[in-house]
Amino acid sequence: MDIFRIEGPVQLSGQVTVNGSKNASLPLMAAAILAAGKSVIKAAPRLSDISVFSQLLGQMGCKTARTDNGDLCIDAAAIDNPVGDYEIVRRMRASICVLGPLIARCGRAEVSMPGGCAIGDRPVDIHLHGLRELGAKIRLSNGYIVAEAPKGLTGKEIFLGGPFGSTVLGTANVLMAATLAKGTTVIESAACEPEIVDLANCLNEMGAKVTGIGSPRLIIEGVTDLRPFEYQVIPDRIEAGTFMVASAVTAGELTLKNCRLGDLMAVVDRLRNIGVTVEAVNNGCVVARKAGSVIKTADITTQPYPGFPTDLQAQFMALLALADGNSVVVEKIFPDRFMHVAELNRMAASLRKEGPAVIIAGVKELMAAPVMASDLRASAALVLAALAAHGTTIVNRVYHIDRGYEKIEEKLNPVGAKITRISV
Ligand code: EPZ
Repeated sequence: MDIFRIEGPVQLSGQVTVNGSKNASLPLMAAAILAAGKSVIKAAPRLSDISVFSQLLGQMGCKTARTDNGDLCIDAAAIDNPVGDYEIVRRMRASICVLGPLIARCGRAEVSMPGGCAIGDRPVDIHLHGLRELGAKIRLSNGYIVAEAPKGLTGKEIFLGGPFGSTVLGTANVLMAATLAKGTTVIESAACEPEIVDLANCLNEMGAKVTGIGSPRLIIEGVTDLRPFEYQVIPDRIEAGTFMVASAVTAGELTLKNCRLGDLMAVVDRLRNIGVTVEAVNNGCVVARKAGSVIKTADITTQPYPGFPTDLQAQFMALLALADGNSVVVEKIFPDRFMHVAELNRMAASLRKEGPAVIIAGVKELMAAPVMASDLRASAALVLAALAAHGTTIVNRVYHIDRGYEKIEEKLNPVGAKITRISV
């Protein structure tokens, strides 16, 4: 198990290139199931979650491989075992998005029911509701979701909203299943996240007929078959947002390459409000904060896209911990996603959780401490805090970070960070 030793404070300066998106790549890998043949995802990041998803596809009968130039190839010529095994699903909840494509391609699927995780209960009832509406017969057996549609699926008007608004992977599941259904499907209250737009664009490249892309009303005319794809995944907006905060928290100046500001408008708006400059440049942006300038306070509420993303809530908390006064962060997607609060307080932050909100009393400086990574984005927040903190921070359980950030130390050390990975 690796740990990070991080020396601070540092001031970051230079250029960092953002990877292809993890959360767009995973549904694209599931979409490969829909076509008998070899699909290629260009710029898929080299992350442990991508490797785990490759294992999942491998157990079904797909062959996955990386080419020398980094493309991820998925050969789904034959799927002889339409099963999502418990041992894999328990490691990665995103595995659930094979359910829709498997039913559509094979007429049946057995996928382990995901449990809760560090960020909350995370039910999949809306996924199942949508697939049932398309005609799948679904039951739970020994912890597995067993779905059958031997005569295929049939298009329908489906409302897919839930208590916290739209669902990203629920939309992906129902959208993928509907591409091969008979007739027309309308998904009302669909997720509008850029990752869903990317998936829908890729499905259309495969021969699907999806319109309304990027809106909460997706219309899908079913087709009889789809062809394999070769498709470049979008840049990772959450990795980009994390580097933006890295620049802001260290009073640095980072140029981010392969970054689409349009996917990050809520984040850019908050950064500018608290005194950080964000300027668009060719294929990216420059994010800077003057040394010695104050970080202004902010009120942030996480929301479905285009609102402020829950996946950047923890990282912003590390930044607002150093703001000049009190800030409030309200979590409206995963109300329990606050495992980082106690760890940031160990670094001399002053955060107080009140139900689904955290009140942040800004402090003058953070202090290094040994801390524990609990989930992917919480871990990123600890790394950001450590860059600004005085002394040597030890971040334990770095494997959480490796799920979503490709060698973060190799990206940040060349621009001034002092992060050492140690195997213990
Ligand atoms: C995706 O998870 C992302 N994962 C998450 O990123 C992200 O935090 C989340 O969307 C929200 O943006 C991937 O894309 C792989 P949801 P997903 O279904 O699709 C409730 C990261 O750090 N809900 O949009 O699983 C749910 O509990 C990760 O990279 C139901 O009630 O999230 C939550 O409150 C973590 N019933 C809300 O909806 C359902 O059937 C939104 O969740 C489904 C969801």
